Amino acid sequence: MCISLVPQPKSIKMLEGHAAYDTQCDRIIDVQMQPQAYVLKILPERIEIRAGSPQGLKYGETTLKQLCFCGGGQYPCLVIEDCPAFEWRSFHMDCARHFMPLDELKKMVHMASFFKFNRFHWHISDDQGWRIESERYPKLHQIGSRRQGDHFGDYDSDAWEGGYYTKAQVRELVAYCDSLGIQIVPEIDMPGHVSAILAAYPELGCNGAPVSVGTKAGIYWDILCAGKESTFEFIENLLVELLELFPGDTFHIGGDEAPKAHWKDCPHCRRRMEALGLENVGQLQGYMANRIAKFLKEKGRRAIAWNEASYGGNLDRDIVLQLWTEDKSGKVREHLKGGGQVILSEMLHSYCDYPYAFISLKSVYDADLASAALAGGGIGNIIGTECLAWSEYIRDVKTLEGLCWPRYAASAEVGWCGNDRPGYDSFAGRLENLFPAFALYGIEATQPDGWIPSEPEALKQLAAFQKNFPKEVMEGFAKAQEEV
Ligand code: ACM
Ligand code: ZN
Repeated sequence: MCISLVPQPKSIKMLEGHAAYDTQCDRIIDVQMQPQAYVLKILPERIEIRAGSPQGLKYGETTLKQLCFCGGGQYPCLVIEDCPAFEWRSFHMDCARHFMPLDELKKMVHMASFFKFNRFHWHISDDQGWRIESERYPKLHQIGSRRQGDHFGDYDSDAWEGGYYTKAQVRELVAYCDSLGIQIVPEIDMPGHVSAILAAYPELGCNGAPVSVGTKAGIYWDILCAGKESTFEFIENLLVELLELFPGDTFHIGGDEAPKAHWKDCPHCRRRMEALGLENVGQLQGYMANRIAKFLKEKGRRAIAWNEASYGGNLDRDIVLQLWTEDKSGKVREHLKGGGQVILSEMLHSYCDYPYAFISLKSVYDADLASAALAGGGIGNIIGTECLAWSEYIRDVKTLEGLCWPRYAASAEVGWCGNDRPGYDSFAGRLENLFPAFALYGIEATQPDGWIPSEPEALKQLAAFQKNFPKEVMEGFAKAQEEV
């Protein structure tokens, strides 16, 4: 019988014999063990899962589930000792660019639990949509959740589209995730990527000019004003409302791609910079992130921000950075040297909305944990890894599933095994044996012949992909990265 588990456990010791699937299973919490660690013992008459916490017990149960895919109608007897390399293993979904039905989110979460992810980074606000019902600021969902048109890449529609999740639906999703050992990490991106918020409440921008919910990809130049006190009041009130919905210990406050040209001209922003002795708008962004993170900390939550939030050089060390670009500024490195922590999600190993021809299953698997981006920052500062699927070009669930799976499974093994991964060939073989699980979970994963596409298929994918990045979009990205 062939044992195929993803992620690969730390140690597997085979024993003689088999156990029926309905063999009694004892679950024991052993507080001496690390919280996510577990030992699974399968003996002919008895199964035992010993774990450091209920979370660890879940991982033992998940391993049992995966063992059913070995075939043979019974479990092989064995002892598995296992523990993740990283405490944090997240997968991401962007429901702002295109709204996704709640049932699809649940399906994705269910699949993710099969690969022992423990966080769902939920991107619920961006230029092109706000997705959560708000009683405090109802125009967010009334206005911010709808847009007239979809002009991402060469797609061209003027139809109205949108959607938002009611509070009851959010609670249902939070409870569903919780039952599977997954915590939601909501992200409200700020101060940039906020056109949907500004469409509802334009007074939160520097000049108060009307803004529409975005219908295209790329960089939008209207961002939240960091000078007005009313902006902070809004954010804090909103966070109070959202924290009640999301009980997890972490909140993502965005911070990427925030072009600060308006801040330079804004009397409110300039006044604040003068009053605080801030030297540039990058430091003003750092101030804003620190202030929001402090508010979250008082509510018992840890803040996460994209790497750009550190570029002013004044970001508090207890804000976890999520690294997606190269650390051109050197500020991420400084953050880490000062004891800061990072979640690794470098584009070229993590962005699963990109075609397989650009980021193959192997590229995700081969993510470099002593990465060039960290430039020797050290693995000790990494709390975990994430795989992502931005949805500018994802309009249907079939496309979503094929892009994410099985690449998300590769990321799960990176996060669980760290540098002790057994290698891509081993992973791909185990994954093929587990492949029927995708259909069983209702997921249309990409078949093995698409994991590393053939040359003609790759050329086709790359030609289609290139259309998503016309000159003006690329220039916007470059400019947003330069602005400090
Ligand atoms: C990002 O891809 N803008 C985080
Ligand atoms: Zn301003």
